[in-house]
Amino acid sequence: MDKDLSRRHFMGSVVGLAGMAVLPSVSLFSGRQRLTAEADPAWPLPYVALDPKPVMVLAHDSFFVGGCAYGAFHAFIKIMREQVGDPFTAIPTQMLKFGKGGVIETGTLCGSLTGTLAAVNLVSTKWDQISKELIHWYAQTYLPTDVTNQMAVDHDFNTIKYEGALVQSLSGSPLCHVSVTRWCDLTKATVTSDHRKERCGRVTADTIGKAIELLNLDLQGQYAPTFKATESTEKCLSCHGPKSEMANVQAEMTCGQCHGNPHAE
Ligand code: HEC
Ligand code: HEC
Repeated sequence: MDKDLSRRHFMGSVVGLAGMAVLPSVSLFSGRQRLTAEADPAWPLPYVALDPKPVMVLAHDSFFVGGCAYGAFHAFIKIMREQVGDPFTAIPTQMLKFGKGGVIETGTLCGSLTGTLAAVNLVSTKWDQISKELIHWYAQTYLPTDVTNQMAVDHDFNTIKYEGALVQSLSGSPLCHVSVTRWCDLTKATVTSDHRKERCGRVTADTIGKAIELLNLDLQGQYAPTFKATESTEKCLSCHGPKSEMANVQAEMTCGQCHGNPHAE
């Protein structure tokens, strides 16, 4: 944000208030808090086309600092600070630390999605379409991808906890629980192992990298979603989804993973 502009607004609001009535005390403006008459700050923040690779490297390495959601978000914001500067410089990326392990190890939404979606939501008016596509992409893609496996083999990352290409697995779900546990089942790695952490570091890089690909397309006016809910899910939703008469289900996940086939004979 333009510093002079915000200062002017600040002064304006003080003068405005002071002129209005007797101020109880200056303590209203204590600390560094800024009171203005403005509504929310400008949104979306400016996006410039990014090269996904440096962001992916930083996301992978930052995973080991603050987890998956932080890793994805921090990498994006840090590179935007370099490319754009203000107001990205004012965003504390630690705010995404809560997302790790599907929100503090509870296994709900995969944190690499949480952090990535927060970044997308910050810079794009198409945040909803792009975010939804990322969720479906995540569930329908073998992770970690060949791209991050190759980056590991090429020693592109600065921090590495497990060498070489890793086993890839298909989650079918955006849930951390399903994604991580399926992969652990395949590899017999524990969730606490460096092997598993390396896997999630690469998934973090994959997810923010995919988002940058989509944001870049959007910038060129060429964005059109390709990943969507599966046909079998759509079928269930034709009777249960928000547009159906029953409208009793809020989900676009793979229904059968939890329900099996409830209408089978
Ligand atoms: C042709 C419409 C239709 C389709 C398609 C459909 N359902 Fe249903 N479903 C129903 C109806 C009607 C009920 C009964 C609702 C009731 O009795 O309250 C029901 C009940 C259910 C129930 C609760 C009852 C139970 O058996 O425990 C679940 C769970 C369910 N459906 C899941 C699914 C899933 C998952 C799919 C996709 C694989 C699906 N449904 C597809 C119409 C449909
Ligand atoms: C992550 C697991 C999970 C997924 C994925 C999931 N559900 Fe459910 N669903 C549940 C649970 C748990 C309940 C609550 C069951 C209960 O209270 O008995 C439930 C409840 C329901 C009910 C009401 C059941 C009843 O007894 O009336 C329906 C209908 C249903 N789900 C349909 C779907 C459909 C359709 C999808 C896919 C779009 C879906 N669910 C995806 C876990 C899941």
